[in-house]
Amino acid sequence: EMAPEERAFQQRIDEGIKIEAKDWMPEAYRKTLVRQISQHAHSEIVGQLPEANWVTRAPTLERKAILLAKIQDEAGHGLYLYSAAETLGVSRDQLLGDLHSGKAKYSSIFNYPTLSWADMGAIGWLVDGSAIINQIPLCRCSYGPYARAMVRVCKEESFHARQGYDIMMALCRGTAEQKQMAQDALNRWWWPALMMFGPSDAASVNSAQSAQWRIKLFSNDELRQRMVDQTVPQAEYLGLTIPDPDLKWNEAKGSYDFGAIDWEEFNNVLRGNGPCNRQRLQVRKQAYDDGEWFRDGLQAHADKHQGARQAA
Ligand code: ACO
Repeated sequence: EMAPEERAFQQRIDEGIKIEAKDWMPEAYRKTLVRQISQHAHSEIVGQLPEANWVTRAPTLERKAILLAKIQDEAGHGLYLYSAAETLGVSRDQLLGDLHSGKAKYSSIFNYPTLSWADMGAIGWLVDGSAIINQIPLCRCSYGPYARAMVRVCKEESFHARQGYDIMMALCRGTAEQKQMAQDALNRWWWPALMMFGPSDAASVNSAQSAQWRIKLFSNDELRQRMVDQTVPQAEYLGLTIPDPDLKWNEAKGSYDFGAIDWEEFNNVLRGNGPCNRQRLQVRKQAYDDGEWFRDGLQAHADKHQGARQAA
């Protein structure tokens, strides 16, 4: 039996009224949002690392400038999202502590290596493409600060996806060797990109409650299907082959059937045993430690001004 305040809360959600930071909310709603928004923030921050590997190796000045801009956007997304999480009563130090200790999750996708320049194309096309499909509905989710942050994030993600597809087009119009690089990147990123959407609906523990609270407007499998249907024609346009022998247009369903996902691989990455999990966390912690002198400097400056104001 729902308490009266909880019933009123659910009714507001059902009517499509946004929940704001100072509104009453069930403790479990708050916790779910802190979990999801902080994981999302961590994903943006750790997501900078695979691409950072290619900043110094970008093939032209223009490509380098674009890649740098994209990586900076991701840092910005992380900061918006930490701010959105902070409205729920957690501190940024706490959230970063959980990331650095390995307690908090971030997206599985960022634990894979970036072996060639074509991976910058595949990441923009497939990974940012998937992020958009997942995040457009979040612009309409029930929590106001999260929904509003997503609007700008999605606009920037759309630039990221286009720059990735543009890299793929350049490679596919290039030499046979360049086209092979593009195919190899697609082969390695396709399945991990499908895993970004999370476990199957049957195995997704949080979905039912998050749907009731309108944090999730579509299920993991629905969004994954959308990604496949949208991406297959794009691969055809590039002249590339999706690495799935079971991929087949299903006329009756009006969408593609596709092969089984290797959930053992997914769970293994979530347990911290993907190809780059340890490296990613180590690099992130190192970056945080290296920034200590800067944070200390900012704090000393703020304290000095605070003191000056109090003396005046
Ligand atoms: N990588 C790592 N962990 C995952 C992934 C993934 N790809 N997919 C699901 N999980 C985790 C969930 O966080 C959950 O763990 P938890 O209960 O310990 O938090 C568990 O697996 C079970 O999954 P679900 O019950 O389906 O979890 P949830 O309802 O949170 O759905 C989803 C997962 C779809 C990722 C959701 O959290 C979401 O939409 N998040 C916002 C988007 C986001 O974080 N994107 C980051 C990648 S995109 C980018 O940054 C470019």
